[in-house]
Amino acid sequence: MIVAIVGGSSRLGRDVAGLLSSSYRVVSTYNKRNPAGACNNLREILGQRLDVTSENDIDAFVSFLEDRKEPIALVYMACHSEDKIAQHCSQSDLALAYEVNCWAAIAIAKKVAPLMIKRSWGRLVFVSSITSRTAPPGTIAYAASKSALETSSRVLSREYARFGITSNVIRLGYMSAGLAESLSVETIDKIRSSIPTGRLGSPDNVAHAIRFIIDADYVNGAILPIDGGI
Ligand SMILES: NC(=O)c1ccc[n+]([C@@H]2O[C@H](COP(=O)([O-])OP(=O)(O)OC[C@H]3O[C@@H](n4cnc5c(N)ncnc54)[C@H](OP(=O)(O)O)[C@@H]3O)[C@@H](O)[C@H]2O)c1
Repeated sequence: MIVAIVGGSSRLGRDVAGLLSSSYRVVSTYNKRNPAGACNNLREILGQRLDVTSENDIDAFVSFLEDRKEPIALVYMACHSEDKIAQHCSQSDLALAYEVNCWAAIAIAKKVAPLMIKRSWGRLVFVSSITSRTAPPGTIAYAASKSALETSSRVLSREYARFGITSNVIRLGYMSAGLAESLSVETIDKIRSSIPTGRLGSPDNVAHAIRFIIDADYVNGAILPIDGGI
């Protein structure tokens, strides 16, 4: 089986890909962050460049997966965030966030699904954010497009279930790697104190959830919160 991670070049994505590679064959994509400096193992994992706004790139990636002739678990992690309040968020800011966070996820799922249908097995795993629920100020593009991603996953779960394909969301809270790295120590402390488990999430927590969804054939259309119980 191959785990295909779209948008796995962030610190969080690389760590998750590395953890999953102990159990599965993993191919992970990057867009701007060239993995040339990564260690050999990661260079292998981050084998594919894919800009999800490019139909040609998507088609090349799907052809790559088709050539592998293996069961596929697709993990969609790519994201674009616009930290702007609604009044300052232009229509093109919104469109880019929706395109990267939701529309491209649907486009890729639609193109990978026929490969899954051939094998009567497939897993779609979409990575979302707790902000789709908490909707904090400044996330009109990010949180709302993640919300659209979550609903899209539920629709796909109903449409593809009869082909042995499940579609689920993992909705992440605050992770130690990635977005949280850009915040100040004071902000992180404040966030940590709001999390019942008293700590930020780890890449291992994310990899564990993906493994669970891959193994489960009766979990479908779910939104699994990985957030320490916020
Ligand atoms: N880290 C957190 O605390 C946290 C919390 C909640 C949810 N999440 C979710 O977890 C996932 C990973 O988060 P992160 O913090 O690692 O985010 P990140 O650092 O912003 O990384 C975003 C990823 O998306 C890729 N990407 C952006 N635009 C793209 C495009 N046009 N085409 C293809 N790939 C594109 C980036 O590739 P390049 O860098 O190569 O351009 C990168 O791999 C996201 O879906 C995010 O919403 C994270």
